[in-house]
Amino acid sequence: MSSHPATASTRNADHREISMMAGTHAESERELPSVPPEPVMEALKLNVYYGDFHAVHDVNLSFGKHEITALIGPSGCGKSTVLRCLNRMNDLVSGARVEGEVTYHGQNIYGRNVDPIAVRTQIGMVFQKPNPFPKSIYDNIAYGPRVTGMKVDNMDDLVEEALQGAALWDEVKDKLKQSAYGLSGGQQQRLCIARTIATKPDVILMDEPCSALDPIATSRIEDLMLQMRDDYTIIIVTHNMQQAARVSDRTAFFTARPDETTGNRTGLLVEFDQTSHIFANPTDKRTEDYISGRFG
Ligand SMILES: Nc1ncnc2c1ncn2[C@@H]1O[C@H](COP(=O)(O)OP(=O)(O)OP(=O)(O)O)[C@@H](O)[C@H]1O
Ligand SMILES: [Mg+2]
Repeated sequence: MSSHPATASTRNADHREISMMAGTHAESERELPSVPPEPVMEALKLNVYYGDFHAVHDVNLSFGKHEITALIGPSGCGKSTVLRCLNRMNDLVSGARVEGEVTYHGQNIYGRNVDPIAVRTQIGMVFQKPNPFPKSIYDNIAYGPRVTGMKVDNMDDLVEEALQGAALWDEVKDKLKQSAYGLSGGQQQRLCIARTIATKPDVILMDEPCSALDPIATSRIEDLMLQMRDDYTIIIVTHNMQQAARVSDRTAFFTARPDETTGNRTGLLVEFDQTSHIFANPTDKRTEDYISGRFG
């Protein structure tokens, strides 16, 4: 719940502002069909449990190629849980159990004989808090290709390419051997994006990648995401609705519904649509209440 409840007029103003933003970036550049025509990934009847706790109920979603999809909704509604299912990161969470399917180019990533490490190479992840390794800038980038046994003709070229791709090269090209810990927070997050790009993924998952960054660093990452969209499919969890409106092509709004007997709050998908529609003309009252600040 917001500690600064907005008045009806400021809420409406915020709503209009976000709606307008949704028309200025992604949507104005791309007129999209109502469902992704070429889904790179799909979640089909996805249910997630932590022990006995039913965290996410029956999520169906598809993620379009070269699109940015934003997952939004109040805290605890299961956004990170869903995101982690998309590259089997929940395998690493003790007690987590996933039911349903997640397909990648039509193949269930939870199928038998699927190697989760190979899945995570194709579907990379950038976390909320920049988490560079305690290594040099160069070695942070080279690490993934080395450990996955990627065939690399020239590591220097690959490091440069990844840093260029993450819009960091010019700032670090003269200090590649210095510790990554010497970089600013925004630079560290771009380094983490470069590290993800280095293993040549197809899809990049980002869980609130800007929440630890100042507005200037946030803006650089948002610009970077829009550039990266030409080469990758991006799925981002964000609490920042302006950010969802600025960068995403489609938005999925989740909420959490309390169980009548236990009171446990299970996450569910309320609405999934083009971002401009979600912010300007949501179908569900719960979406409208959330984006206009009346809830969450
Ligand atoms: N490792 C875990 N063990 C047990 N319960 C968990 C675990 N991770 C998440 N949960 C629970 O699952 C539900 C969904 O959590 P999740 O982190 O996916 O929500 P979220 O929408 O990402 O929230 P936030 O916006 O606060 O990051 C919450 O009730 C949370 O407490
Ligand atoms: Mg989360």
